[in-house]
Amino acid sequence: MIPDIVFVVAMADNRVIGHNGDMPWHVRSDLKRFKALTWGKPMIMGRKTWKSIGKPLPGRESIVVTRDAGFVAEGAHVVHSVECAVERARQIAVELGSDEIAVIGGGDIFAQLLSQARRIHVTEIHADPRGDAFFPELDPGQWVEESRARHEAGEADDHAFDFVTYVPRAMADVT
Ligand SMILES: NC(=O)c1ccc[n+]([C@@H]2O[C@H](COP(=O)([O-])OP(=O)(O)OC[C@H]3O[C@@H](n4cnc5c(N)ncnc54)[C@H](OP(=O)(O)O)[C@@H]3O)[C@@H](O)[C@H]2O)c1
Repeated sequence: MIPDIVFVVAMADNRVIGHNGDMPWHVRSDLKRFKALTWGKPMIMGRKTWKSIGKPLPGRESIVVTRDAGFVAEGAHVVHSVECAVERARQIAVELGSDEIAVIGGGDIFAQLLSQARRIHVTEIHADPRGDAFFPELDPGQWVEESRARHEAGEADDHAFDFVTYVPRAMADVT
């Protein structure tokens, strides 16, 4: 079994995903969804995203991509290319018994692995914040919306949001 690569991302209406190394909103409902979607899986992330999280998250294995040969990330697996990240994640997925590898950002890593993604879970945050990291455009010829659930902002959410899942059009056509 080859584990599927799935993306898990929160993106504003203007495609911003980050600003100054952080997410420019507080939406607790998204953090809960993130935990549920990544639990028990290997997670691939760029070095800047690792830095923004600041520590390994429980119940998941972190694979950090950097070009810095001397980079040390305590509690994580450090690799030096996205190809090595996928390879390492596949091995870890087998060890964990997971049928998915979660790619969790940031914009740089999403852009490089987009062609390998089999499912994209997006929390669309209804806001237009200033940002310096963006989620790549999804070509409507390649991607189709599989599900969308609209939510008003809860008590610990700055904004209303939608939980959306996209799948490659080719996969949607055969299922
Ligand atoms: N809203 C969300 O769901 C979400 C998710 C994740 C992150 N974020 C936000 O996004 C921002 C970070 O995203 P980002 O795009 O700036 O950075 P990033 O993708 O997290 O990390 C980029 C770094 O990854 C390494 N890298 C990238 N491609 C590589 C390759 N092919 N080979 C080896 N190393 C490679 C490089 O590290 P070195 O410079 O060390 O070589 C590069 O500087 C932050 O603001 C974060 O809070 C948001």
